[in-house]
Amino acid sequence: MPELFTWEFASDPYPAYAWLREHAPVHRTTLPSGVEAWLVTRYADARQALADQRLSKNPDHHDEPSHAKGKTGIPGERKAELMTHLLNIDPPDHTRLRRLVAKAFTPRRVAAFAPRVQELTDRLIDQFAAKGEADLIHDFAFPLPIYAICDLLGVPGEDQDDFRDWAGMMIRHGGGPRGGVARSVKKIRAYLVDLIHRKRGALDDGADDLISDLIRASDHGEHLTENEVAAMCFVLLFAGFETTVNLIGNGTYSLLTHPEQREIWHRALAEGDAELLATGIEELLRFDGPVELATWRFATEPLRIGGQEIAAGDPVLVVLAAADRDPERFAEPDTLDLSRRDNQHLGYGHGIHYCLGAPLARLEGKAALATLFTALPDLRLAANPDDLRWRGGLIMRGLRTLPVEFTP
Ligand code: HEM
Repeated sequence: MPELFTWEFASDPYPAYAWLREHAPVHRTTLPSGVEAWLVTRYADARQALADQRLSKNPDHHDEPSHAKGKTGIPGERKAELMTHLLNIDPPDHTRLRRLVAKAFTPRRVAAFAPRVQELTDRLIDQFAAKGEADLIHDFAFPLPIYAICDLLGVPGEDQDDFRDWAGMMIRHGGGPRGGVARSVKKIRAYLVDLIHRKRGALDDGADDLISDLIRASDHGEHLTENEVAAMCFVLLFAGFETTVNLIGNGTYSLLTHPEQREIWHRALAEGDAELLATGIEELLRFDGPVELATWRFATEPLRIGGQEIAAGDPVLVVLAAADRDPERFAEPDTLDLSRRDNQHLGYGHGIHYCLGAPLARLEGKAALATLFTALPDLRLAANPDDLRWRGGLIMRGLRTLPVEFTP
């Protein structure tokens, strides 16, 4: 039985997941926080569990022992209003909120945002291109999504660096001491509530940003409440931020450490092969995706997953990283193959909580990885892969730093 959640595991969890898939596909474990939870590691079970409505997203269904109280959310904020967002609620509330946000966060809005994403990407690369070296997490992967989501929401430019700091606090403390996270969440909430007030006051000016559209969105004459708008902005921020940081970070790292596939990426860029660029991003998501475990689910009644009995109140964590390397589903799952076509990976989840931001994530991921390798064709790692540190958080998988060098 391999040891889980050690530093070694954090840097390469895939061998341990392979063992679990084979020997203990639905495995009860004690998490570093002390909470006991089931890990679901096979693709078929994972896909089924993600769509199973008997697994609730509402933490109130967690039958938690007293020592684990509050460990499945951000302490002090778990029941707070900002936390009643899409990823913590079930139908019918989820259905209503998701329908309303879909009216504001449309494919048209995302497509129209492409030039802005390209501009941000170019500007960030310009800032370090003359230096011959960079930490691609700090200088590139981290700022791009936060500026992008701020722009999309309509956070004024002069406030975006505050957001960058709060987001930095959240990402640095993810999985570690939580005090910083709770403080950042409070600051973000206060800021958002104030911003929403200002946007509401200026609605008639024809503002074309996501917050204004969320305020306008109505369903059978019913509008989102102020708190629902704030919680929606919050989930867009935190679901769309670290995930995209990790797509850019993990994706770049995978290309840098697989020279043959990197060659294929360069060729696709040179030839403008849109199909390969698209299948390539999907494969990078499958191979080493940003979300290692889907977010918490809790059994509302006794049920079976992969033959294993799960008691009511038990937490269930679907291990996307394990499912997406399942040899029962993917040919040669441990091989990175940018041209892979049969690739229904679970990197964006599945079912009613399927990633709302997938079109934006694809847009940002492609802009980032295409522009980076075009602008800096001889980009190379400036560290031994074994020396790179991965963040030890439970849900996300991503690098702390990604030092690179290149010809300026
Ligand atoms: C949900 C992955 C980017 C917004 C999810 C889920 C996954 C995921 C796996 C489902 C979680 C679960 O069922 O427990 C990713 C990845 C991304 C990414 C890999 C980047 C590569 C984004 C972006 C946004 C976003 C850019 C928005 C700006 C959301 C929201 C949900 C969600 C709002 C909750 C949907 C719901 O509960 O109905 N994402 N995401 N994501 N994602 Fe993403």
